[in-house]
Amino acid sequence: MKKQRLDKVLVHLGFGSRKEIKKLAKEGGILVNNKVITDSSEHVNPEIDEIIVGGKQVQYREFIYLMLNKPTGVISATEDQREDTVIDLINPDFQAFQPFPVGRLDKDTEGLLILTNDGKLAHQLLSPKKHIPKTYYAKVKGEVTEVDAKQFKTGVILDDGYQTLPSELVITETGAISQVEITIYEGKYHQVKRMFLAVGKEVIYLKRIKMGLLALDEGLALGEYRELTADELTLIKH
Ligand code: URA
Repeated sequence: MKKQRLDKVLVHLGFGSRKEIKKLAKEGGILVNNKVITDSSEHVNPEIDEIIVGGKQVQYREFIYLMLNKPTGVISATEDQREDTVIDLINPDFQAFQPFPVGRLDKDTEGLLILTNDGKLAHQLLSPKKHIPKTYYAKVKGEVTEVDAKQFKTGVILDDGYQTLPSELVITETGAISQVEITIYEGKYHQVKRMFLAVGKEVIYLKRIKMGLLALDEGLALGEYRELTADELTLIKH
């Protein structure tokens, strides 16, 4: 890794603004390899150099990986003029890493959303060529039947004429309101809702429960998030 400005490294790790770090350095609060560094524009290698801020050793890392249980009412974007975004749910320490959502869930969709600043991983998970499976739990108005499941297996034609890839539909309850789990291998706009519309049914609740091999931690309440464990990370990194 190339050397970087000390203040840039510390801003990235959530230690405050550039101005605050400049002041802290001037006051003698920052040590690099046991030497007081009063000029925060000095260059360091955060992977090698031992940096101590306010008596605490800095744990450097380049990337963060968060699992969010997205609630309804927030949009899957990093910023928006009018709406709250998923980033607004994350504390400033993590925001300092400039994470972004890996793909999109609709404003009214809940569930698993990965937030990271690792562009390479995001690209791998979103590449249309990779066909990463995404599983959703849905409540659907009307009786979902095995006829629908068969149609989903061969692919359905969406309102714009696009024929979907084969998908898997597991019906867990059928009736006036049916409950299903559907796994799709692509990510067209409003795909699950439009697939049901293609068979004359309406999705009234949608929640993503799995992406690739990574399952939503059901212990996370809506709006809560946590870092992925090392094991979880290996499930989605190839
Ligand atoms: N399909 C949809 O219709 N909406 C989502 O948010 C995700 C998949």
